Amino acid sequence: MSYRYLGNKTRLTEWIVGEISRVLPAGSSIADPMCGTASVSIALARVGYSVTAADALTFPVVHARTRLLAKRPPAFKALGGYDKALAWLNTAAPIEGYFFNEFGEGGKPANGRAPRLYFSAENAARIDGIRHGIRDLASADAVDEVEHSVLLHHLILATNKVANISGTYGYFRRTLSGPALKPLTFEPIEFEDTPGDHVVRQGVVEELASTLGTDAVYLDPPYTKRQYAGNYHVLETIACGDQPVAAGDGGLRPWTDQASDFCYRRSAAQAFRETLKRLEAPHVFISYSEDGQVAEDELHSILGDFGKVTLHELPHVRYRSNDRVKDGSVLERLYHIEAF
Ligand SMILES: C[S@@+](CC[C@H](N)C(=O)[O-])C[C@H]1O[C@@H](n2cnc3c(N)ncnc32)[C@H](O)[C@@H]1O
Repeated sequence: MSYRYLGNKTRLTEWIVGEISRVLPAGSSIADPMCGTASVSIALARVGYSVTAADALTFPVVHARTRLLAKRPPAFKALGGYDKALAWLNTAAPIEGYFFNEFGEGGKPANGRAPRLYFSAENAARIDGIRHGIRDLASADAVDEVEHSVLLHHLILATNKVANISGTYGYFRRTLSGPALKPLTFEPIEFEDTPGDHVVRQGVVEELASTLGTDAVYLDPPYTKRQYAGNYHVLETIACGDQPVAAGDGGLRPWTDQASDFCYRRSAAQAFRETLKRLEAPHVFISYSEDGQVAEDELHSILGDFGKVTLHELPHVRYRSNDRVKDGSVLERLYHIEAF
């Protein structure tokens, strides 16, 4: 599974996990508390580590639960098994509800704005129908926490494939085109029976840091000013199963409470310090780009206060939604801090 997500490390996992395994013995535990799509979490789990994944937002938690905790297709007793659950997702009756009105071509946003073209009217109504069905299953206790996450994970992956956006949900394209005109479809996913004991949590890393209790921690903070809560508001609403006020032309859910300090030049350095101060692991690994909010020299000096720092570098081509990168390549950096 992979989708366009700012800072997604899917294409770098071999390198990152390779560097970590030079230092961290097999069978150890490691936390990925800013897990995003959980691509690094699952790659760490594949090589035998026990992984604690977390994120400040809800949809990454849905991905992490699915990828780490669903080691085989869930029973889905209420729906007659995993294949039947997929068939149910593919055929759930459309409803002209919140997504239809706030995010669909034929909608009527509650704030009186013009229809938001995030989705075709048909797909928006199908998303509503499935959200409604998932809510009913959850409130009747007909699915457990992992099954609930697997359904939401499927809905997020399918939604991403038909969203009328260029890169993120910050805004929609002016006309519906290409993949947005195709119907929402659900395909089976691969469940991975990884050996470790995994844990999935939700919270900001500055607060979770002192409670992780793992042998190592991998940090992958945002490095630009682009806030994940705003840029992925539609995915957060699917994961939360709620109907928040959709503000302005873009229809963003209230997100400023979830703004990350790592995204602001004025607070990013302090966020690093706060997090590192509370981490108790002997090994900390950090992915951070050369052009992040914290300049290279400053980051080196912060990390140096907490242990012996080693830097690994890899040139690679990176996804960026709007900004241009001169030659399309960037130096990806992985810092290793061996605590004093
Ligand atoms: C660069 S992305 C991680 C990408 C991930 N490694 C992947 O491969 O998909 C950064 C993640 O950090 C999360 N985040 C931002 N600030 C956070 C904070 N203070 N505490 C926890 N998570 C945070 C964002 O929600 C986002 O998912």
